[in-house]
Amino acid sequence: MKEQLKTDIIKLKVGSNPVNNVLNISDFNVWISDNHILNNIRLTIPKNKITCIIGPSGSGKSTLIRSINRINDDVEKLTVTGKIEFNGLNIYDKKTDIAQLRSEIGMVFQKPCVFPKSISKNVLFGIQHQQKINKIDAFNIVENNLRAVSLWKEVSHRLNDKAVSLSVGQQQRLCIARTLALKPKLILMDEPTSSLDPVSTRSIEKMLLELKKSYSIVFVTHNIQQAKRLADKLLFICDGEIIEQGSAEKLFNNPDNNKTRAYLNDEYCDC
Ligand SMILES: Nc1ncnc2c1ncn2[C@@H]1O[C@H](COP(=O)(O)OP(=O)(O)O)[C@@H](O)[C@H]1O
Ligand SMILES: [Mg+2]
Repeated sequence: MKEQLKTDIIKLKVGSNPVNNVLNISDFNVWISDNHILNNIRLTIPKNKITCIIGPSGSGKSTLIRSINRINDDVEKLTVTGKIEFNGLNIYDKKTDIAQLRSEIGMVFQKPCVFPKSISKNVLFGIQHQQKINKIDAFNIVENNLRAVSLWKEVSHRLNDKAVSLSVGQQQRLCIARTLALKPKLILMDEPTSSLDPVSTRSIEKMLLELKKSYSIVFVTHNIQQAKRLADKLLFICDGEIIEQGSAEKLFNNPDNNKTRAYLNDEYCDC
C-alpha cells in the first residue's frame, strides 16, 4: 500500500499525464532465442525532457531503445510482447509504417555514422528521401540544423567538403543535425559521446540542454556524472528489469531501492 502510494506520487511528479508524454511503454518483453532480455518494462517518456537510461553493460539499455524505433526487427530469433504507444498507436502494430516511424523517432548511435558525401548532403540525406526540396530550402535546412548543433560557424565555409574530413566530435554533431532535419518527435541516443573527448562531450551536452526545449530525448549512458548533468527523468535498468525510475533528483538524492543508491554512488552493485 505504502509502496503503491510512493509509485503513484513519483508518477505524478514525472508526468503520468498522457498529454505530457511522447511515448508510453507497457508490459514490454523481449526475448532473443530463449534469453529473456527485457522483462516487463513499463515506462513513459515525457515531452521536452531528457530521459536518461543508465545501467551496467549488458543490462538491456540498447535493446530497449532499439525496440522503440524497431531497429531490433532485424535481430534473429527475436520475440516481442507488450506495447509501445506512440501517436496513439502501438508501434508493433502490423499497420505501422516503419520508414515513417523512423523519421519521427530519430536515432543517434555510439559512433558517428556519416555517409561518404559532403557535409551539406549528410544533413539533407534523410529528408531528401522523404520529399523534393528546392535549392533555397535545402540551404536553409542545412544552415538551421547545423546552427542547432553549434556546427555552423565551424563548417559554413566548407559545406561541400567530405563529412569524413571532420573530427569525430564534429561528425557526431553532424549526425545529430541529420536527425533533426527530419523534425523528429523523439530522439534516441545510444551512448552518443562514448567515443568523444571531454571537450566534444561537454559541447554535445550543452547542445542537448538547448535542444530539449524543442525535442524529447532518450539518452543512454553508463556515465553516472553525465546522467547527473543531463537527466530530468532517470531510469536504472539491471539485467533487463527496471530497478527504479523517477525524477533524476529523486533517484540521485533519495532513491527507494538500495541497488539504485549503490550504483549511482559508484559503489559495488550486485544487480
Ligand atoms: N543481436 C543479439 N543477439 C543475441 N543477444 C543479444 C543481441 N543483442 C543483445 N543481446 C544480449 O542482450 C543483452 C542486453 O544487451 P544490450 O541491450 O546490448 O545491453 P547494454 O546496451 O545495456 O549493454 C546482453 O546479454 C546481450 O548479450
Ligand atoms: Mg548498449
